[in-house]
Amino acid sequence: MMKLLRFSIHLFSLFTKGLSAQQIIDGQIFTPGIAIIDAPQPNTPLGGDFLQIALDVSSDGKLQLPPYPKDPRSAIWNITIFLSSYTTGKNLTISNGTASAGNASLGEIMLQEPASTVKHVNWVWPDCLVGNGAPTDGSSSRGLYNISIRQNFRLNGSDEYTIFDLPIQVTNYIPQESNRPSCDSLNNALLSPEALNASANSFTRIPGTSIQTTSTETGIGGTKPDASPEDGLGAGARVECRNIVCFIWIATVALMLTL
Ligand SMILES: *[C@@H]1O[C@H](CO)[C@@H](O)[C@H](O)[C@H]1NC(C)=O
Ligand SMILES: *[C@@H]1O[C@H](CO)[C@@H](O)[C@H](O)[C@H]1NC(C)=O
Ligand SMILES: *[C@@H]1O[C@H](CO)[C@@H](O)[C@H](O)[C@H]1NC(C)=O
Ligand SMILES: *[C@@H]1O[C@H](CO)[C@@H](O)[C@H](O)[C@H]1NC(C)=O
Ligand SMILES: *[C@@H]1O[C@H](CO)[C@@H](O)[C@H](O)[C@H]1NC(C)=O
Ligand SMILES: *[C@@H]1O[C@H](CO)[C@@H](O)[C@H](O)[C@H]1NC(C)=O
Ligand SMILES: *[C@@H]1O[C@H](CO)[C@@H](O)[C@H](O)[C@H]1NC(C)=O
Repeated sequence: MMKLLRFSIHLFSLFTKGLSAQQIIDGQIFTPGIAIIDAPQPNTPLGGDFLQIALDVSSDGKLQLPPYPKDPRSAIWNITIFLSSYTTGKNLTISNGTASAGNASLGEIMLQEPASTVKHVNWVWPDCLVGNGAPTDGSSSRGLYNISIRQNFRLNGSDEYTIFDLPIQVTNYIPQESNRPSCDSLNNALLSPEALNASANSFTRIPGTSIQTTSTETGIGGTKPDASPEDGLGAGARVECRNIVCFIWIATVALMLTL
C-alpha cells in the first residue's frame, strides 16, 4: 500500500514540476556524455519479453567506433547500465561489462554489434518484474525505475565518468517465462544519492558541439542539421542535474492513463 501510494505521489510530482523542453532533440536524449539515447523515451510504460534500449555511441556520426586510434582525443571507454529504483529498492545489473550465464546481464555494450553506431540493448526482464499493470501491493517489484546509464569516456582530451538516469515505468505486461533470471542473481546494493554524486563528474553535453577525435583533426562527420527543441518529444521534457546525477522530468497526457 505504501509503495502504491509512493508510486502515485511520484507520478503526481511529475505533473507539478515546472517543465520546459531542453535536451531532447528530434526524440534523441542527449546524456551528460557522448552516448545519445534513441529509445525508450522518458516515462514510457514498458513490458514485453525484453527491456530494449537503443544507444547511439557515435554522437550522431561525430565520433568513430572502436577500435579508436592510439591516444584518442575522444572515446567511450565503456558503458555500464543498471535498472534501479529507490521505490522498489532494486538495483539490477543490465550490463557491468561481463556477461553472466545466458546473458542474464550483458557483456560490454561498446563491443556488441561492432559495425553499428547504435547499440541495441536487449535485456530479458528478470522474474520479479513479471506481471501486468501498475503495482497493486507493497510486495511488488514493478513500478517506477531508472535506466541508469554510466559512461566512462574522454571528450576533447578530458576523462570523465557520468551517471544519467532515464525514468521508465515497468507497468506493461511481462509474461512469465522459464528463461527469466532471478532478480536476486542480478541485484546490487543501492547507494545514496550523495554517494552517487561523489562518484561522478559534473559534465554537460551541449548538443551539436563538435568532438575532437585525434589531436589534429575534429570529428569524422558533419554536424547534425539544426533542430529546434520543440521537435521530438515536444513540450514537457527537461534534463535536470540534481547535484551531479542527471535525470529527466517529463509530463505527458499518456501518464494520466496509467493513474
Ligand atoms: C531516479 O533518479 C533520480 C535522479 O537520480 C532520483 O531523484 C529518483 O528518485 C530516481 N527514481 C527512482 C524511482 O528511484
Ligand atoms: C571502464 O573504463 C574505465 C576507464 O578506462 C576503467 O577504469 C574501468 O575499469 C572500466 N570499467 C569496466 C566495467 O570495464
Ligand atoms: C549473449 O550476447 C552476445 C552479444 O549479443 C551474443 O553474441 C551471445 O551469443 C549471447 N549468448 C547467449 C548465451 O545468448
Ligand atoms: C556483474 O553482474 C553479475 C550479475 O549481477 C554479477 O554476477 C557479477 O559479479 C558482476 N561482475 C562484476 C565485475 O561486478
Ligand atoms: C547499483 O549497483 C551498481 C553496482 O554495484 C553501482 O555501481 C550503482 O551505483 C548502483 N546504483 C545505485 C542507484 O545505487
Ligand atoms: C557533489 O559532488 C561535488 C564534487 O564532485 C561536491 O562539490 C558537491 O558538494 C556534492 N554535493 C552534494 C550534495 O553532495
Ligand atoms: C571540442 O573541441 C572542438 C574543437 O576544438 C570545439 O569546437 C568543441 O566545442 C569542443 N567540445 C566540447 C564539448 O568541449
